[in-house]
Amino acid sequence: MTALTDPLFDPVRAGRPTLWTNPAYTPADDPEAAAALAQAVADWARIAPLLARLFPEVGEAGVIGSPLVDLAPLRGALGHAAGPLFLKADHALPVAGSVKARGGVFEVVMTAIAQARAAGLLAPGADVAALASAPARAFFAERSIAVGSTGNLGLSVGIAARALGYRAVVHMSADAKPWKVERLRALGVEVVQHEADYTSAVAAARAASQADPLSAFVDDEDSELLFRGYSAAAAELAGQLDALGLPIGPERPLLLYLPCGIGGAPGGVAQGARGMFGAHVHAFFAEPVQAPSALVQMAHGVGQPVSVYDLGLSNRTEADGMAVATMSALVAKRMEQRLAGVFTVGDDDLMRYLALAHDAAGLQLEPSATAGFAGAHFTARSPQGAAFRARHLPGALAARAVHVVWATGGSFVPAAQFTRFLDTGRALGSDFDLHRT
Ligand SMILES: Cc1ncc(COP(=O)(O)O)c(C=O)c1O
Repeated sequence: MTALTDPLFDPVRAGRPTLWTNPAYTPADDPEAAAALAQAVADWARIAPLLARLFPEVGEAGVIGSPLVDLAPLRGALGHAAGPLFLKADHALPVAGSVKARGGVFEVVMTAIAQARAAGLLAPGADVAALASAPARAFFAERSIAVGSTGNLGLSVGIAARALGYRAVVHMSADAKPWKVERLRALGVEVVQHEADYTSAVAAARAASQADPLSAFVDDEDSELLFRGYSAAAAELAGQLDALGLPIGPERPLLLYLPCGIGGAPGGVAQGARGMFGAHVHAFFAEPVQAPSALVQMAHGVGQPVSVYDLGLSNRTEADGMAVATMSALVAKRMEQRLAGVFTVGDDDLMRYLALAHDAAGLQLEPSATAGFAGAHFTARSPQGAAFRARHLPGALAARAVHVVWATGGSFVPAAQFTRFLDTGRALGSDFDLHRT
């Protein structure tokens, strides 16, 4: 355990952008992660015919996937030093417009399958596409799915639950953006708005759901299914890099920059990537300076929950998806040796990245989705990044590494709201605070 009074927390407490590298990090082959990834990929393949029936936008193949976008035009502005630089465009994921489509849709559909099986509605081995039928809908209509969310998980769970015919109840934290609330209500989702933060919203949602035997609760703080749903993204990424002639291996490592709130989405992707690439992938989480729940927890040591409030931070940020004060204990444990590090980014820089991504590459991202852009600067130009490279990317490896910025949401943001984000980002100019520290 590292006490919160340790000097390593000084820049974090001061709200300064920081890269913390994990002293317990152990790049290695990871058979446990590989087995979990294989299971996740098989599960997604099994539910694909049902997804195709429920969501026309995923096409006949029933795949919820996103493109890999070359970020070459942004290299200079981002302070990127060397190696290919890509953006994993999960902001454009079908169904929910954010990385949460990978977790939320997966958990809802897997829950529906389990319930239908238990009720004798679906025989073992039967085609799960039958769950899009009228009798199945009638069965789900008597049940509900509940979730606590800062917004995007609520959207993905709400959309998937309603598509199957469930009642859906989404408890939103005070940080949730009004457009997300409106969109859910338009789908017939019951939205309960809380004055309090995300942790309180989840606790309220859990208590309400547990009191109702016909309600299933998607527990963002502690869900194996969400984690598994996210993890399969690593296999998709491997296929895309192979197709580009950039297979990851001993001669070409991979650096991932993953925006983090409670930790499920980045943790699932990071673990899946370990299963896929073993010792040759290095995953970093990215957080707002006022809400670095993973940095605080991982640097303090896992096992005993700590919050950003314990460091006197506010948990206030424009990056609503990352406004989380205490990270998931489940994810913290899984990341103990698997996480390379965590860095933090100021809100002004998040808005600058948002404008840059739009103006230089035509991307529509929300503030939470942009934190990963800071990864290239931190790993190439900070003293902690230099120490990390010396230890884990010796010789020519650093120059050959592929960098992937995970863009986690934004394509569903209404035009008027996006224009406001864009105006803010443009007005701040292109002089990143991070590059001046
Ligand atoms: C756009 C976006 N990025 C990143 C995250 C972080 O994901 P997680 O909370 O699973 O760490 C969220 C969470 O809602 C999000 O909405």
